[in-house]
Amino acid sequence: MELIRLQKFLAENGIASRRKCEEYIIDGRVKVNGKTVELGFKVDPEKDEVEFDGKIIRQEKKEFTYILLNKPIGVVTSADDQFDRETVLDLVKVKTRVVPVGRLDMYTSGALILTDDGDFVYKVTHPKHEINKTYTVTLVGIVSNEDVEKLRRGVEIDDGYLTKPAKARILKIDEQKKISRVEITIHEGKNRQVRKMCEAIGKKVIALHRAKIGNLGVKDLKLGTWRYMTQKEVEEILK
Ligand code: URA
Repeated sequence: MELIRLQKFLAENGIASRRKCEEYIIDGRVKVNGKTVELGFKVDPEKDEVEFDGKIIRQEKKEFTYILLNKPIGVVTSADDQFDRETVLDLVKVKTRVVPVGRLDMYTSGALILTDDGDFVYKVTHPKHEINKTYTVTLVGIVSNEDVEKLRRGVEIDDGYLTKPAKARILKIDEQKKISRVEITIHEGKNRQVRKMCEAIGKKVIALHRAKIGNLGVKDLKLGTWRYMTQKEVEEILK
């Protein structure tokens, strides 16, 4: 349940500007659950019945846009780059003002959600939400089972911060090229966390790709391309 100011509710549902709606409330033209209320009153748009001049005002259902992008490397996640580099918004051209949900480093590729739903951004990026993010990381050298165990248990990054227990498994070891590929699933979002975790086990990162956010993967999307998310996928992320 989220309470919002009555004048905001009225304005969002097309009665008039917020200022004008304040006047209507003061003039006694607005009722909530059958009673005239004063300025400052807050309503639950889903439960309360709001009337203006005797007519019931219903909450309009907002249509938001949710996009899944497979970000290529070399593109920055910010909405507007101070150095004029290519941003994810140059790749996703839609009419509404979408913003990235969280971020990926310039040299990390993979799954990134963009939306114009501020509430979704807030919920999904809040640490308490703990959404799993699955990365595929290519490393110089041969990764041992012991290394993977350390990644699972937690390693020290950033002045003693111990990363939370993670999932980690070896996907491939190339003895000839002396490189390893590891899958790491974390539910935190510290700055450059996966790179730092790999540094903490003494390994250099060659490539980092976010394969999945929750269960939402990008293997069917070519790098640099995007698609709209389904309602089911949006709900799944918010669960
Ligand atoms: N961890 C990193 O190191 N970089 C990213 O972009 C995401 C997670």
